[in-house]
Amino acid sequence: MTEIDALVLFGATGDLAFKKLFPALADLTAQDQLDIPVIGMGRQAWSDQQFNERIRDSLNTHGDAAEQKGLKKLLQLTHFVGGDYNDSATFGKLKAGLGTARHPLYYLAIPPASFSTVVESLHGAGCAKGARVIVEKPFGRDLASARQLNAELRKVFADAAIFRIDHYLGKEPVQNLLYFRFANAFLEPVWNNHYVQSIEITMAETFGVASRGRFYEEVGAVCDVVQNHLLQVVALLTIEPPSSHTVDALRNEKVKVLDAIAPLTPAAVVRGQYVGYRHEEGVDRASQVETFAALRLCIDSWRWAGVPIYIRAGKCLHSTVTEVTVKFKLPPQNVFGNNSDEQNVPANNQLRFRLTPEIGISLVTQTKIPGDAMRGEALELSMSQTEITHGLNPYARLLSEAIKGDQTLFARQDGIEAAWSIIDPVLSATTTVELYDPGSWGPLTTETIGPAGGWHNPAAGKPQE
Ligand code: BG6
Repeated sequence: MTEIDALVLFGATGDLAFKKLFPALADLTAQDQLDIPVIGMGRQAWSDQQFNERIRDSLNTHGDAAEQKGLKKLLQLTHFVGGDYNDSATFGKLKAGLGTARHPLYYLAIPPASFSTVVESLHGAGCAKGARVIVEKPFGRDLASARQLNAELRKVFADAAIFRIDHYLGKEPVQNLLYFRFANAFLEPVWNNHYVQSIEITMAETFGVASRGRFYEEVGAVCDVVQNHLLQVVALLTIEPPSSHTVDALRNEKVKVLDAIAPLTPAAVVRGQYVGYRHEEGVDRASQVETFAALRLCIDSWRWAGVPIYIRAGKCLHSTVTEVTVKFKLPPQNVFGNNSDEQNVPANNQLRFRLTPEIGISLVTQTKIPGDAMRGEALELSMSQTEITHGLNPYARLLSEAIKGDQTLFARQDGIEAAWSIIDPVLSATTTVELYDPGSWGPLTTETIGPAGGWHNPAAGKPQE
């Protein structure tokens, strides 16, 4: 792969750049992994100085101490080009700004509606040849628009030059899912429908849409986090072992498992909206967009047929926590006697993966309560409980991979289409949006599609910064 000689950030004045990308870039400069010009693009007519102020602010608000160390060097690399993306003169200025760079990496941190304009203009200005492009999720709004977006990108860039970023794939605890599954032999014999009763994933956030109301109105919770982040998690939990170490081996397995998931039906989905959402900035007063979604799906494969997978995600919920619970079936027989005594009946073993706010894996076991009677209680064995510390910024990891030209941790178009095929039928169906109170676990009807015995509400973690 050719070496990248400039990084161009479209959407440099936006929310994602402020919260995640500037700290990630500073992380890379601090680790000596970034030493090329960084050009910020935005509609505002900012000076380089204003741009640098924004980066400084971003690091002060969202950067940790190690990222702060990279700030000085980052500011020596930056330059800002302002202008309307519909105006070819903007791209003329970009070309001039690129100088002698021949292999830029473009990061499109902009609304998908602007992707094709920007890509065509890059091509028109002669800036696309020899370049790579990073595209932010959601990739399209449904299956048809995802295909159309891809066709537009492919007119200008080869597939090997397109990096479809889903930051969940760069997250340490998500990578750990894959590692844990295939580095532990004890798991394989029980990792199937003979032993697993259900899989449950909760991605809860205490905060609302804040300044992202306009964006949220276009996407909703299903397209924002389920179609991408959470289906990637489902795939990593359920794939077959990749057959080699090639870039595509893992991605092939993910596509296979997503392909085996039947398209959702409206009866398997609950959509919710927090009370107060309609008064957020940029939100329609009669909005029907969901800020919460719960769904039930099934993988129609030899290994997983009959195991329900429950997913819940939403804003303004009880806690900020993302957790996976794999619930195992009960032992075939209760050998401890009296079924009328609840503590004689063994409960389900569970394996829990904690993805946010800390990385954790725990096994819920049943152990005997000391005494004469054969009675038990749940004991949670916590196998790891690491706080997410520096060096694990998923955007830094993914940017570094894109700079190197390695697509392993990026989504592939066929996988994206497979994920849309699952979601698509419920996007067009007009299911009611049910209101829920901020601070709750979502609408009460969520129970109707949830696991028998109710959803597992993960314990709150430490508040995130
Ligand atoms: C983003 C979504 O992709 O992921 C946000 O657009 C969501 O709505 C965020 O809050 C969650 O990611 P993380 O890494 O902050 O848990």
